[in-house]
Amino acid sequence: MTISVIGHGYVGLITACVFADLGNKVYCIGRNKIKLQRLAKGDPLIFEPGLEEVLKINLKTNRISFTDEYESSISQSEIIFIAVGTPSQENGDADLLSIYSVVKKIAPYLNKNYCVISCKSTVPVGTNRKIEQMIKQVNPDAKFDVASCPEFLREGTALHDTFTPDRIVIGSDSKKAIQVLLKLHKPLKGERVIVKLESAEVIKYASNAILATKISFANLIALLCEKTNANVEEVLDGVGLDKRIGRHFLYPGIGYGGSCFPKDVKALIMTGEKNKIDVSLLHAVEKINQTVRYNYLSKIIKYSKGKKLAVWGLAFKPNTDDIREAPSLYIIKDLISKGYKIKAYDPEATANFKKIIYDKIEYMSNPYDACINADCLLILTEWNEFKHADLKQVKKLLNDPLIIDGRNIYDHQYLSELGYKYIAFGS
Ligand SMILES: NC(=O)c1ccc[n+]([C@@H]2O[C@H](COP(=O)([O-])OP(=O)(O)OC[C@H]3O[C@@H](n4cnc5c(N)ncnc54)[C@H](O)[C@@H]3O)[C@@H](O)[C@H]2O)c1
Repeated sequence: MTISVIGHGYVGLITACVFADLGNKVYCIGRNKIKLQRLAKGDPLIFEPGLEEVLKINLKTNRISFTDEYESSISQSEIIFIAVGTPSQENGDADLLSIYSVVKKIAPYLNKNYCVISCKSTVPVGTNRKIEQMIKQVNPDAKFDVASCPEFLREGTALHDTFTPDRIVIGSDSKKAIQVLLKLHKPLKGERVIVKLESAEVIKYASNAILATKISFANLIALLCEKTNANVEEVLDGVGLDKRIGRHFLYPGIGYGGSCFPKDVKALIMTGEKNKIDVSLLHAVEKINQTVRYNYLSKIIKYSKGKKLAVWGLAFKPNTDDIREAPSLYIIKDLISKGYKIKAYDPEATANFKKIIYDKIEYMSNPYDACINADCLLILTEWNEFKHADLKQVKKLLNDPLIIDGRNIYDHQYLSELGYKYIAFGS
């Protein structure tokens, strides 16, 4: 099939590469000529494991191409995926300006062949209907249907998730549109979930909100464990073995971040409030997520004997260079304002972090250098590299054998045998 993907970020580029790899002809549309030239040379611009290889293979076979030109790509496409950003506005609502600006650009070129327009971007319920109306207003002769096909990939495992999804959700009123999307997804495994247009939009927000809720719930139980001599990891193992609950995402620590959970919980709150629904559960999820950061800061203030800190991990999660809404940003900004000196290491996210905090952090090229003469080691992202670090060596470099772990990655017993004071969440 011939498809267009608008946006070449984490979702757009992965979608474009995966469908090209499956044998389709893909036009990936962007705005910035310099970025498009780099992409056309095989530079994915973002870090995602395996992405560069898949991009290069599909460039070689001409299955993927990059352009800022809409007319020829849109008029040839059977499916148009919109994968532009939908960040939070100040009030928490999703900012849909990029979506609507793209829709206006697509609309004039929808006359030639029938096509399906589908949002990969996460958009509030009702947005796809609005897109449909906008196009009909601009171009009454357009031959198209809209369908919601929300994206569930996780940064860090995005290619794997897209090649082997748990489910493919397709929401549309049009049987024809559903058939076109089913045809495109045919080579992929995963349950097909065919639903109403609005249901598909809500499925995406409800999925992210429940995952965020599990993290905040784990943090609530962690606080209780800290006060009662219980151990949260033991507790959550015991809880998670119940198949109705599961252990996945019961992660105590410095909380959720990234470009999706914070903004999607906020947008769902706004949708709920506009519909006069009691969303206090979601407010509590957000509140706990903020509280854990303050708790972490108070642990640092309480236990660290000095103000020189080694930080391992800046990305909002492992295996990505993405730092949007990363807990590390909030924690480090607070520490700097309190006069702490920071030496930081992250395997992939340093360049992006530097764009936000350039001169107040010493960025190191390996984790051990960050520990030299530091009064304490902070773990802010659970990269595998840190789980397998040589902690005997680290102890020799630190002024004080103290680790304050924001991600609960080490075993208490093992660290105390090595002579560390180990402070984690929920014990
Ligand atoms: N990142 C994730 O893990 C993830 C997972 C599922 C869904 N989503 C959703 O997918 C959407 C995109 O997320 P992302 O992480 O890929 O964002 P991103 O910021 O990485 O990429 C957004 C892309 O849109 C482009 N863009 C923005 N405005 C544009 C315009 N007017 N015209 C053309 N291109 C434009 C940007 O240049 C960029 O390439 C969001 O709605 C997000 O919530 C993200």
